[in-house]
Amino acid sequence: GSRWKVAVLPGDGIGPEVMAVAVEALQALSAQGEPQLELTEFLWPSHAWHRTHGELWPAGWHQTLAEFDAILLGALGDPGPADDAQRYRLSDAVALAPLLEIRKGFDQWACERPALHLQGAPQYLADPRADAIDVLVVRENSEGEYVGQGGRLAPGTPREVATQIEVFTHGGAARIFRHAFERARQRAAERAAGRRRDREFPLPAGEVVHSEVCLITKRNALRHWGEMYSEVFATVARDYPDVATHHELVDAACMKFVTAPWRFDVVVASNLHGDILTDLAAVLAGGMGVAPSCNLNPADRRQPPMFEPTHGSAPDIAGRNRAGPQAMLLTAAMMLDWMGEEDALMAEQGRRLREAVAMDLREHGLCPRSTSEVGAAVIRRLG
Ligand code: IPM
Ligand code: MN
Repeated sequence: GSRWKVAVLPGDGIGPEVMAVAVEALQALSAQGEPQLELTEFLWPSHAWHRTHGELWPAGWHQTLAEFDAILLGALGDPGPADDAQRYRLSDAVALAPLLEIRKGFDQWACERPALHLQGAPQYLADPRADAIDVLVVRENSEGEYVGQGGRLAPGTPREVATQIEVFTHGGAARIFRHAFERARQRAAERAAGRRRDREFPLPAGEVVHSEVCLITKRNALRHWGEMYSEVFATVARDYPDVATHHELVDAACMKFVTAPWRFDVVVASNLHGDILTDLAAVLAGGMGVAPSCNLNPADRRQPPMFEPTHGSAPDIAGRNRAGPQAMLLTAAMMLDWMGEEDALMAEQGRRLREAVAMDLREHGLCPRSTSEVGAAVIRRLG
């Protein structure tokens, strides 16, 4: 059988359209040698499944997905067509719940969202240095503001009090920081090998190195976890003397992402801070149309990671063959990269897929072409 089994979850809205392109690209790559990929498509989680089954996915979803090496997700959330007689709308919290449940269910505690500006992608900043944006935001994906603890007291009354508790652990912090430093080292090696544009960062001692990790907190106001984060970060950093470090408060980081994004390399942030910063970073790199992302458990590769574009299901343009498939294709390339960490053939395919998307962008930009037209052009370049 094939080496890598992938669960394909197209989801809602434009998800199935962009996923069709990604699947075709993956199959084209796989067909060039001994096929290494086995793709299995599921109709859930989705609103379509909800319409017929009264739930977004079957009760056995975890057991089913656990059989796979990786999960590739399109997009979730869809109010349905305006003329649908059975039109109904699930709340966002319900419609998007599977996303958080998959992250939790497979202990995907690291979320990686690269923001690399590719030539031809939109450039929203005027400063020409912004063309060189190459940031990796590492988002803590399992705790912090997303633990779901708290509640509403006296709901609906003027006396109502809502609490939402943030939980941070030493272990959760240490593992995500270590992962960020590992990625920084890897990026330095890629720069040394000429596979990534070179940049320099000063160590406090004045020495210059080729990678850096920036810690994000709000420790001037949220002291408890801010101080713990800073201490644990300093401890982990001692094991990586070859990587420069700095710290930014999250509000200042937002400002600096816009005024001097070329200053950043690897950025590590809590779950909510990472969520917010990655939308900002995505726009700096050309927008949601080109922003890939992955959720993984770096400590246990048998837990299937989930690869998903940062964009949503864009119901306003769904079903019209108009969505750009670039983010989905770059997401598929990220999946191949992950496989490539132990399979050289997959690493090569990931590199080729990313290069094909980059070449297409360089030539056409994100100009209005149909989903299938972009797909066909990229797949031609894979030949
Ligand atoms: C994301 C999304 C999700 C998140 C939502 C849909 C729950 O914004 O993947 O960034 O907050 O993590
Ligand atoms: Mn988000």
